[in-house]
Amino acid sequence: MRIDDLEFEPLIEQETIAERINLLSVELNADYAGKTPIFIGVLNGSFLFVADLIKQITIPCEVTFTKLASYFGGTSTSRKIREDIDLSVDISGRHVIIVEDIVDTGNTLAYLIEKLKLSNPASITACSMLLKPGKLETSIEELRYVGFEIENEFVVGYGLDYKELGRNLKDIYRLTSTTGEV
Ligand code: IMP
Repeated sequence: MRIDDLEFEPLIEQETIAERINLLSVELNADYAGKTPIFIGVLNGSFLFVADLIKQITIPCEVTFTKLASYFGGTSTSRKIREDIDLSVDISGRHVIIVEDIVDTGNTLAYLIEKLKLSNPASITACSMLLKPGKLETSIEELRYVGFEIENEFVVGYGLDYKELGRNLKDIYRLTSTTGEV
């Protein structure tokens, strides 16, 4: 499948994503029973994941979003983190679950965790749909929930984009090995 100038091939089908989200939600429902956590989705990439995950959460919870990206539309992550939207809700004393689309170098997530810690939440964990363990630059102990571990490859679909395209795709696709950098 072609997106702009690059060729992509299927990696994870929507049925597999849905099954994994069910399992993640079982864990979250058990781990946060009696706690009324607040889910903080990191825009733009996490919007579909948050929507599908939250529908499977059966304990009382709140949902909000923030926007923080270290990625500017190509296929490799820039180290610069840009903060577009601040968090409007008060998280002091709250159990926070950050919801990410993908953790690549981990710089974005590590930055967000440090920033949120300044507001004295009761606890912070993170839940990412995808993780590239081979690209991780710092270990993040808060990252307790991961949908799928993938290779060092560039992916699109299910919220993830290439040059802002492909977020609407139901499945996740990877860059074919013959095209471009990762
Ligand atoms: P990190 O700070 O390097 O972990 O980068 C995280 C952000 O980079 C994600 O939230 C995505 O916006 C973007 N990103 C990293 N890898 C990919 C990818 O394979 N496809 C699309 N976006 C990606």
